[in-house]
Formats: sequence, structure tokens, C-alpha cells
Amino acid sequence: MKIETIAIHAGNHTDASSKAVIQPIVMSTTFQRDEDGEFSSGYSYSRAANPNRTSLENVLAQLENGVEAAAFSSGNAAGMSVFQSLEPGTHIICPDDMYHGLRNQLKMLFVGILEFDFIDVNDSDVLTAHIKPNTGVIWIETPSNPLLKITDIKKVVSIARGHNIKVVCDNTFATPLCQQALALGADIVMHSSTKYFGGHSDLMGGVLITA
Ligand SMILES: Cc1ncc(COP(=O)(O)O)c(C=O)c1O
Repeated sequence: MKIETIAIHAGNHTDASSKAVIQPIVMSTTFQRDEDGEFSSGYSYSRAANPNRTSLENVLAQLENGVEAAAFSSGNAAGMSVFQSLEPGTHIICPDDMYHGLRNQLKMLFVGILEFDFIDVNDSDVLTAHIKPNTGVIWIETPSNPLLKITDIKKVVSIARGHNIKVVCDNTFATPLCQQALALGADIVMHSSTKYFGGHSDLMGGVLITA
């Protein structure tokens, strides 16, 4: 299926009860239990999951050719959840031109919890020299904000694979229309959907999509 078709149709379906062709916004915070107490709709409380977020996650996962997506209230929240998922003491290799909000999270919130280096990830020798036994993630951002540096995703992935390190790619600037990092071997794609996915500077969002 063409990516334009996925963008339009993958997250949307005709609403079963009203036959609306665009999915209605579901305002309910809570959902009805079945007689036996189960939630067969898959929804119990909208913070945990709700039909609109599921649709968004479905279309974003398919656009990136991923398996699962998790939507967040901002790109910073999406990045934060990756950092929080790591064992204390894990070392992250980050690009020297990492988006400043994510870099500041590491430098201000994760000092003493995670280890991190900000380096030229495009220089294979420099990258390899910074790998340590506790390196768990190589973070790349391509094109980067603000310097629009380009990273060779395949090259970084091939180095990471040899050391059992996960590669997370901030794909905010390229979007899957221009670059599919999972297909190039990355393990997780991250977006600030506030930017090009949103498109009109009128919403905030973040997403993680896993391979
Ligand atoms: C490349 C990149 N990553 C992450 C972020 C953070 O996203 P948000 O502003 O949605 O928290 C931004 C925001 O400008 C960005 O440009």
C-alpha cells in the first residue's frame, strides 16, 4: 500500500454505531464493563487506552513499518520514557547535536542515574571508542535539530549490533515519508509529532514506534 494511502486510511474506520466515515472523538474517560466484569472493548479508562489514541498509534506504527506505537503528550515525553526504561547506570551515546530539550533532560534529570556522552556519531572511530560494557543505547537524530546533520543509520546500526546495543532514531525532521529508520535497522523510532506529523503548529505530541 502506498504511504499516502496508509496515512489516510490506516488509523481511520467507519464508526460501527453512527456510520460516521471519520472516527468520532471519544470523550468518555471510563468504559462499561461486561456482565462478567471484563472489558471486552479493550478499554477501561482513557488514560490507559482510548479509541482515538489507538487509531493514532495504529497509523503511526504502519507509517513507520513498525509493530507497535505508543503515543505521548509531547516528543519530550516520548524521549523521557526511553530514558526511564533503562536500568540505572546504563550508558547512552548521544549525538553532539541532540535536540536541546532531550539533551537537557539527560543533563539535568538523569545525572547520577544514567551515563551519557554527546559525540559525533557519524565518525565510526569516535563512536566505537565511546562504546562501554554498560552502553545500552545509541541515540541518533537525523536530520538533527538545529544543525541538520545527517547520520548514516545503517552504519550506526551495524556498529551497535556487534555490541548488542539498541539504536533509537529521532525521525522528527524526516518523517517516514522521507526516511524509514526501522527498515534501516533501528530498534525504536521517536517523533515529536508536534512538528511535521502535526504540520500546522496546532497540536503537541510524541510517539515511539518499535520494530
Ligand atoms: C528533533 C526533535 N526532537 C524532539 C523534540 C521535542 O518535541 P516536543 O517539542 O514535542 O516535546 C523536538 C522539538 O522541537 C525536535 O525538533
